[in-house]
Amino acid sequence: MPPDVPDPQAPRPSRAFLRDDLADVEPYHVEPHRHRIKLDANESPYDAPPDLKAETAGAFADLRWNRYPDPRARRLRLALADRLGVSVGCVGIGNGSDEIIAGLIHALARPDARVVAPEPTFSMYGILARAAGVEYCGAPLTPDFELDADGLHAALRPDGTNIVFISYPNNPTGACWDRDAIANLLDVPGVLLVLDEAYYEYSGMTFLPDVDTHDNLIVLRTFSKAFGFAALRIGYMVADPDWVGVVDRVRLPYNVNALSQVGALTVLGHDDRVAEHLRWVVDERERVLEALNAVEGIETFRTDANFVLFRAREGADAVFTRLLDAGVLIRNLDRPGLLRDCLRVTIGTPAENTVFLAALLGESSAV
Ligand SMILES: Cc1ncc(COP(=O)(O)O)c(C=O)c1O
Repeated sequence: MPPDVPDPQAPRPSRAFLRDDLADVEPYHVEPHRHRIKLDANESPYDAPPDLKAETAGAFADLRWNRYPDPRARRLRLALADRLGVSVGCVGIGNGSDEIIAGLIHALARPDARVVAPEPTFSMYGILARAAGVEYCGAPLTPDFELDADGLHAALRPDGTNIVFISYPNNPTGACWDRDAIANLLDVPGVLLVLDEAYYEYSGMTFLPDVDTHDNLIVLRTFSKAFGFAALRIGYMVADPDWVGVVDRVRLPYNVNALSQVGALTVLGHDDRVAEHLRWVVDERERVLEALNAVEGIETFRTDANFVLFRAREGADAVFTRLLDAGVLIRNLDRPGLLRDCLRVTIGTPAENTVFLAALLGESSAV
């Protein structure tokens, strides 16, 4: 039997088949670290309440498991369309918003296309562009992580198509950038603007109403963050139905499984629970931000999301290791350039945040 992990020295049977431009691509990797408190992936710290899980499980048990799920997730699309005040044809569902990003790039991967994004941002835009063999161009943010509108315009390809991804708020830096600077892109010929609002529920800021008036705008949202449904993998797009049709051309037929479809429908019926969890996280964000700002040698950046980016004068590695020794896992983003000595912490429960802050200061505490 071949080993689970390929021997780096051994000849690779795939080499004659694999696309040359994928040969040195590293598969997406999440480093396994031992931890008690997980504040590294911008998830909600609140699991779905038992009655909501029971309702989902009950609805799933009532389905026929020998049948494929609804390939168009129509009930879920209708529920979302109703909630958002758009027609059902404007809503497309993905196995996480990652899948919609991949589908869009895949379907639009013309030889004259370019994927453009301000950087640093959500890494999947670049990774998926590369996977599809599309040119990718990152336009650097300013040193305080604001949008450099001129730099972004300069990164556009003048003679082809541009798929511009804006994470709003931006992951990992945290803030929603100037609305007008972003909206200006909608008037540039050859630009499709994809507004990734994965953290919308925390920011309350959106481009959704602009979908009505701009057929070159796609808004992406997800159930993985504020809805606390990361395990179920549900994301959605809202756009002119033509763009939903574009993704449908490359979408696998049963991309969203039946459990995820009923789970998402169930949680949509429990707005009050989502709103309560959201309020707790936003209150905690202010407390954590204030506490971080009081720490000597820590610089924070403004945030509209459920995480905070900060820079540590003593060095990101030292902070990361000290926290991990205390059982707290955050994200070490340290790399040369704008993110030098930067780390990102997801807002957890009040008790988790207290342990994080104590560990940051080198104090011991129990959760
Ligand atoms: C900006 C942004 N977009 C999309 C995603 C992916 O979300 P999903 O779980 O819906 O694939 C993430 C996840 O961290 C994100 O930060």
